Amino acid sequence: MLTLKHTNLLKTQCLVGLDSEGSDTNELNDGGWVSADSGETIKVTNPFNGETIATVPILSREQVLDAVGVSKKVQPIWANKTADERSALLSKWADLIDAHKEDLARIMTAEQGKPLKESRGEMDYANSYIRWFSAEAKRIYGDTIPAKNSNERIVVLKQPVGVCAAITPWNFPAAMITRKVAPALAAGCTMIVKPASETPLTALALGELALQAGIPKGVLQIVTGKSKVLGEVLTGDERIQKLTFTGSTEVGRTLMAQCADTIKKLSMELGGNAPFIVFEDADLEAAAEGLIAAKYRNAGQTCICANRIYVHRDIKEKFVDIYVKQVAELKVGNGMEEGTDLGPLINQEAVDKAKDLLQSSMEAGATLNAGGRPHEAGDLCCEPPGITDVTQNRDIANTEIFAPITAIMTFDDEADVIQRANDTIFGLAAYFYTNDLARSWRVCEALEYGMVGQNTGAISNAAAPFGGVKQSGFGREGSKYGIEDYVVTKYWCQKIG
Ligand code: SIN
Repeated sequence: MLTLKHTNLLKTQCLVGLDSEGSDTNELNDGGWVSADSGETIKVTNPFNGETIATVPILSREQVLDAVGVSKKVQPIWANKTADERSALLSKWADLIDAHKEDLARIMTAEQGKPLKESRGEMDYANSYIRWFSAEAKRIYGDTIPAKNSNERIVVLKQPVGVCAAITPWNFPAAMITRKVAPALAAGCTMIVKPASETPLTALALGELALQAGIPKGVLQIVTGKSKVLGEVLTGDERIQKLTFTGSTEVGRTLMAQCADTIKKLSMELGGNAPFIVFEDADLEAAAEGLIAAKYRNAGQTCICANRIYVHRDIKEKFVDIYVKQVAELKVGNGMEEGTDLGPLINQEAVDKAKDLLQSSMEAGATLNAGGRPHEAGDLCCEPPGITDVTQNRDIANTEIFAPITAIMTFDDEADVIQRANDTIFGLAAYFYTNDLARSWRVCEALEYGMVGQNTGAISNAAAPFGGVKQSGFGREGSKYGIEDYVVTKYWCQKIG
């Protein structure tokens, strides 16, 4: 059984390769669990009650540099395995994750706070990327291209990028890791993951299961410690060829600048500010349900959460009535209790930011239609506020809210709402509800977003390309496109006579 009590997690250790002197470099057998050289640790707390549930090491710069060395050493050996072998190991990892799903979900809820039903859902979601890329490992095709001269041949090879590093966020402690690690390993890359300091336990548990599955030590390493120190190594070390990051646009910008000196390949999944448009012909019950799904997943702490809700003036009152009734059914509280729909926010800073946004909107004339008070269940819990009459030029319409506040605005015509929906530096996800076919195409094509949901608030799945445009980043995760971020194209020109 994999539980908080029984894994290496409580031994305050990280999963890194150890480059033991004299080891046989043809064997992938280096590595294992290590503690910080300094003995220093970071506390991991449960956001619902503030209890410390574990500690993880603060690895030194030298320890992380050693991990990079191991990654570099084992990468060609891993890449030399056949696609079938890499695929089978990924599959075995996925089987073990399935077998330990309940324990992993409990670990996730303990460190992140999301309701158990969402943690279970995230484990399935996370694992679907491993299964997807286990299959994709066998479909990394190159090309032949008709050459200019008859005595030449042009061949295009797809080869692994090499050593990759991932810096991952606390809002999806498993899925944001697997959708980077699985394509990397499938392509023949090695990977060093730095999980968020708030949620390292799920990452370490996934690493332990990868070892149990037989993925050789050093192929996947999980390092914890101070973000600045680890970030500097992972962005600055020339042995690392690629960095993949999910998190805020602000941090993404800094990491990109840090990677400039070594010209790394990058994938950036950054902030969002998703518009959610309800046209006058929409099915309002379905739109309200879709909004609940898009707004309240993970208590509103999702990059693709509906952030700005635009409802056509003719149906606004009716829609708000339906929506507010549905919101009233949501149960706020301890994620560990079955039946909870909304857990706590991740920390006090998140709660303070939400309060400020709500207050400044109210001062600017917004109307509170639901919720809005602190919730008795816990310090970081809040009743989900629904506010209408929000104005486009206020902070709430221009920042990623990352809290369960629904900010509703009205619109009168299609061109105007498209212009307002696009009036942001972000371009991750957008949603709209209509059953009009011609409008569907017009709106989808005009929205400046990487992902668009029509008549649905749930768009994420492993078969689809996840990613943004504008300052929401670049690169795609999942789908047949996701592997591209972990391969490089080599053109081979052969003169044959
Ligand atoms: C995110 O918040 O970045 C991820 C959401 C998802 O994968 O659905």
